[in-house]
Amino acid sequence: MCRRTDGDILSGMAWRSENLNEVQTVWWEPGAVCLIDQTKLPHARETVRCKSVEAVAAAIRELVVRGAPAIGVTAAYGMALAARKSAATDRPGLLDELVRVKKILDASRSTAVNLSWATGRMLGVARKTDPGVVEIAERLLAEAHEIRDEDKRMCRRIGEHGAALLGRGSRVLTHCNAGGLATTGYGTALAPIRMAHEEGKELHVFVDETRPFLQGARLTAWELREAGIPLTLITDSMAAHFMGRGEVDCVIVGADRIVANGDVANKIGTYGLAVLARAHAIPFYVAAPTTTIDLSLKSGEEIPIEQRDPEEVTHLGDQPLAPEGVHAAYPAFDVTPHGLVTAIITERGIVEQAYEKELRRLVQAG
Ligand code: MRU
Repeated sequence: MCRRTDGDILSGMAWRSENLNEVQTVWWEPGAVCLIDQTKLPHARETVRCKSVEAVAAAIRELVVRGAPAIGVTAAYGMALAARKSAATDRPGLLDELVRVKKILDASRSTAVNLSWATGRMLGVARKTDPGVVEIAERLLAEAHEIRDEDKRMCRRIGEHGAALLGRGSRVLTHCNAGGLATTGYGTALAPIRMAHEEGKELHVFVDETRPFLQGARLTAWELREAGIPLTLITDSMAAHFMGRGEVDCVIVGADRIVANGDVANKIGTYGLAVLARAHAIPFYVAAPTTTIDLSLKSGEEIPIEQRDPEEVTHLGDQPLAPEGVHAAYPAFDVTPHGLVTAIITERGIVEQAYEKELRRLVQAG
């Protein structure tokens, strides 16, 4: 793991929580990809410095950095790091190495398409750059910065589009963490919430704790509190209770991959929320940048679902919860069929149903 590698720990307290909109989840230092360590939040503020592609891949796999857009940006910097550190002396040698590095990074997590989208874009740029290895390395670093900056801009636009769906006093339920920590800026599902809050709409957010990694309890609750947005933290199984009492006006979640027919992969538990929202006639919104749309897959059945170590279910950190040796399963994501999705909020606008046609139109508009 990245953190345990000698010299990989940069320092604690290297970032400020009082200006969260400016917090970088991922940044570059000469010779290293740097990350806020999200496995430690909210109780410790540590940063991790990955000095090799293997360390970057380990940080992604072990959720030091997580959230589809953030891992895409991290992988882009990983490609730039590889080019910078490469011993290749000519262009073909470096391109071969980048193909190998792309495979390592892509294999670190399987469901979020932003990862292979970013490494594919970096490889494409390298192939178009000539003449030499130094120029390619410089160009790749500039491209990684550009991917980061684009992500920031997309999140703001998602916020602007999505905030229009939220009325004064809206009570919104969200799952997992699709906030600033999952991106390089304003978040996706949390972007409309943040923007509506800034517009003075006085929202209230129900935050699912999100078993087993607790992204909701640890990260979303922390982000919202830092932003001064009122929230109620609930366990995942309480959502039906609050919907049944009429206390939830809409659900907004992020996405790890949206395929051509509009089916959506997101954190395990999202599908159940969509079913509950339909049963209670509550709008179910998905907020994601167009970099999360994968038109190469026709339906959700084709989305690879990451299977994580079941020990993350039987244990809480080092603390055992279940009888020793009990069989457990941990699919990290599930697929919500498009028929349960009221609308998809992207940086290029909001699409409702007729997803096949509308998603293609949005992607082609880029
Ligand atoms: O396993 P994680 O924490 O990477 O899962 C994150 C999610 O499921 C998010 O909802 C999704 O990546 C969108 S983040 C803007």
